[in-house]
Amino acid sequence: MAAFKRVGVVGCGLMGSGIGQVCAQAGIETLVREVDQPTLDKGLGRIRKFLEDGVAKGKVQASDKDKILGNIKGTTKLEDLAPCELVVEAVVENIGAKRDVFSVLDKVVKPDAVLASNTSSLSITEIAATTTHPERVLGLHFFNPVPLMKLVEIIRALPTSDAAFDRAKSFVEQIGKTAVVCKDTPGFVVNRLLVPYLLDAVRLLESGLASREDIDNGMKLGCGYPMGPLTLLDFVGLDTTYYIANIMFEEFRQPHFAPPPLLKRMVLAGYMGRKSGRGFYEYGK
Ligand code: CAA
Repeated sequence: MAAFKRVGVVGCGLMGSGIGQVCAQAGIETLVREVDQPTLDKGLGRIRKFLEDGVAKGKVQASDKDKILGNIKGTTKLEDLAPCELVVEAVVENIGAKRDVFSVLDKVVKPDAVLASNTSSLSITEIAATTTHPERVLGLHFFNPVPLMKLVEIIRALPTSDAAFDRAKSFVEQIGKTAVVCKDTPGFVVNRLLVPYLLDAVRLLESGLASREDIDNGMKLGCGYPMGPLTLLDFVGLDTTYYIANIMFEEFRQPHFAPPPLLKRMVLAGYMGRKSGRGFYEYGK
């Protein structure tokens, strides 16, 4: 199968910038789109910083850093993604925003281009239904931090064609990640298992069974997880996890997907985790 030469990424936030970076690292001409120039500059700055840190850690060659940055271009116009063979959407987790993006992409890209969403919880089938070619729409779900996490979930929507699926699979291989394949259900494989576990950790804390440190150390040292569940919640974002849990609860109506009251109240208080400076732990500015 022919390698991808040009890929587009819509959204250059935490996930979009990581996705853009891994495409550029694979030698792909990558075009990232943000809504305005300051947001785009911030996203591109995040990629630059990650690569500079990589150079400082001895993980990235300085010359490679320049080459990778040279593979990335920014734009504020969705129409500029017209020549891309694959576009990965990574905008805010809101069905309306995603549908808006896909209905424009559907008109501007070539008929054989593949359109992917990085959604972690919304229905790919519903997103695909916005387009006139739903057979080329699927999910490519990346994990944070994208440049370090090796997995991508490939989600087949009901109308996804074998041709689009095969192209997506070869893209995941091209960028050096490992794919797992999943049907279009809330949470796919990883969040379906991860989210109830994270919610249970909040329930343990809420019930006073153990301290935050002991819950985290229990899973880190007892199971070899890289982060304890409360640290991971702070890392992923309490608001993000709350949002995903609600979508899963709405769909499955099973109590283990229901967000515990403490999580809801922390989100209402603005304790979102690392990004807000406070979650289960406190972080410097
Ligand atoms: N450039 C290149 N390499 C880098 C780097 C950089 N800027 N920064 C770090 N690295 C490398 C390090 O050198 C190190 O490499 P080695 O293992 O070869 O030594 C490796 O990456 C790990 O980095 P650190 O040692 O600095 O950090 P760490 O060991 O504390 O690991 C972590 C950090 C990878 C985030 C780890 O804690 C982890 O895996 N945490 C769990 C993350 C997770 O679960 N993510 C998924 C969240 S769920 C999600 O995203 C989906 C959703 O829908 C919500």
